[in-house]
Amino acid sequence: MPTVAVFDTKPYDRDYLSAAAKVAGLTCRFHEFRLDADSAAIAQGADSVCIFVNDRADAPVLEKLHSLKIRHLALRCAGFNQVDLPKARALGLTVTRVPTYSPHAVAEHTIALLLALVRKIPRAHNRVRELNFSLTGLVGFDLHGKTAGIIGTGQIGRLAAQILRGFGMKVLAFDPVPSSDWAAAHDVGYVTLDQLLPASDVVSLHLPLTPETHHLVNSSALSRMKPGVVLLNTSRGRLIDTTALIAALKTGHVGGVGLDVYEEEAGVFFEDLSGTVLADDELSRLLTFPNVLITSHQAFLTQEALTEIARVTVENIRRNAAGEPALPGSSL
Ligand code: NAI
Repeated sequence: MPTVAVFDTKPYDRDYLSAAAKVAGLTCRFHEFRLDADSAAIAQGADSVCIFVNDRADAPVLEKLHSLKIRHLALRCAGFNQVDLPKARALGLTVTRVPTYSPHAVAEHTIALLLALVRKIPRAHNRVRELNFSLTGLVGFDLHGKTAGIIGTGQIGRLAAQILRGFGMKVLAFDPVPSSDWAAAHDVGYVTLDQLLPASDVVSLHLPLTPETHHLVNSSALSRMKPGVVLLNTSRGRLIDTTALIAALKTGHVGGVGLDVYEEEAGVFFEDLSGTVLADDELSRLLTFPNVLITSHQAFLTQEALTEIARVTVENIRRNAAGEPALPGSSL
């Protein structure tokens, strides 16, 4: 029975991976700590190693895994910037990922952030719990009739756009690789970024982080957005220059922000830090704004997405052990 050493696990990972492993006939050895140069040795005796977004699979770690006769690294996520792929190839280590799980999960969470922000739900909820039934300060606005700008119309951006069309919003989109048939079918208009930014009441980011898109939302982009704009980011933290965002929030130019990702989220998001002192001054500042709503990279966290992540990860491990090719789109 193939054995997999699974790093950086939380209870929900263990539940879903255990269920899938049982079906596939795999043995999982779960570890709560992350994979790094110090922890790699614990993988001894395993056939595969399974990691998540904040594990480190750099050259020294990969060499250590190779020396332990590990021949397969299974990523239980889509992104792979945590892996030194050239080194993995040089060592003959197979690397697989889960290319897609539930784009609906991420699109729906984006809309959850938007509705909570524009209708001030967290504030209202906190008030009512304290028996404060006053409505003062809770005036929101209708999404119907407003304009949303979707930056990146891949799997998630397209779904988010369709949901917003359902609210009766006008939807503009920018993507260097437009999906013209889809846009025509859903009455979405492709425009340039320069046209999208000043025209949108809501701007939502659904594009990957690359050297070109790093700090796409900087002080220049923010200044071109409509006053009072609501900005949503469920993609990658480094798409936004946090310092510039805080400045735009302080002047009131940005009317609301919903973030599921943050530039410096590693070591903070996914962890219970209650009772400790938060050392990140910019995150602390963001948390003081009444019009900023932050979730801890949880847009993917649905039963459907976790089931699919576990199914694909475990199937790739089984296939690797059986000498079969990985599932389509999984090999890196
Ligand atoms: P996708 O690959 O299907 O689509 C990305 C789109 O962005 C493509 O159409 C591409 O042409 C476009 N794009 C690339 N460069 C661009 C640019 N400079 N300007 C505008 N568009 C550009 O990706 P998918 O699956 O829709 O994911 C979107 C984002 O969501 C990614 O950043 C991904 O990392 C993130 N994500 C976040 C999760 C969460 O839990 N918060 C979970 C899963 C994905």
